[in-house]
Amino acid sequence: MRKNIVAGNWKMNKTLQEGIALAKDLNEALKQKTVNCDVVICTPFIHLASVAAEIDQTKLGLGAENCADKKSGAYTGEVSAAMVASTGAKYVILGHSERRQYYGETSEILKEKVTLALENNLTPIFCIGEVLAEREAGKHFEVVNTQLKEALFGLSAEDFSKIVIAYEPVWAIGTGKTASSDQAQEIHAVIRQTITEKYGKEVAENTSILYGGSCKASNAQELFAKPDVDGGLIGGAALSVEDFMGIIVAF
Ligand code: 13P
Repeated sequence: MRKNIVAGNWKMNKTLQEGIALAKDLNEALKQKTVNCDVVICTPFIHLASVAAEIDQTKLGLGAENCADKKSGAYTGEVSAAMVASTGAKYVILGHSERRQYYGETSEILKEKVTLALENNLTPIFCIGEVLAEREAGKHFEVVNTQLKEALFGLSAEDFSKIVIAYEPVWAIGTGKTASSDQAQEIHAVIRQTITEKYGKEVAENTSILYGGSCKASNAQELFAKPDVDGGLIGGAALSVEDFMGIIVAF
């Protein structure tokens, strides 16, 4: 059966010292408590190696927020999937709407990143989601299906099975305006159906589909209670142990 996962996306927050402290405190809190989901933190690149040395990854998984679309070489400022893996990180967020929107990441680029992540045994947390105008025009199902198909449906069933999907409606990210649990369930079911059509029921049933966008302790339980919502990708509320733990215990 698919896993329930609560993953934090720190985005561009926390200095190295603050990040290490947060990771250590979270690791400590998870040692004190039995939880019913996998917990992951995705941190800026510079935190990865130090955080990896401080946490117990059987309790708290570690990932990056991005990786390069090239293997290695003269790409100033980029960080490769192999470099991410060499820190001890096991996950990588790919295709976040902020990367698509502000850094021009297309499905073509994301396909390369996914391939390189998998080659380096990283689990991609692959983000899809519509902007407000697309939802208002009734195009949200079409948008997420296209994002899925363009970047991921070239993968073999075996490789696709290694992917975690995160549905993040762009209008709900950092806005305090979360999708209702019914809206989340409706589109997660559509995403799972699209995966079923391509890879079959078994692969689809085993794919974890997380919800992201203003998810917090006060709404996590209702969201996670939906049959096709397998956890959350958390931004703002992942930046404090108390807030993040409040979401984790919703399972
Ligand atoms: P917020 O939880 O801050 O809305 O961010 C969601 C997100 O973008 C996680 O990747």
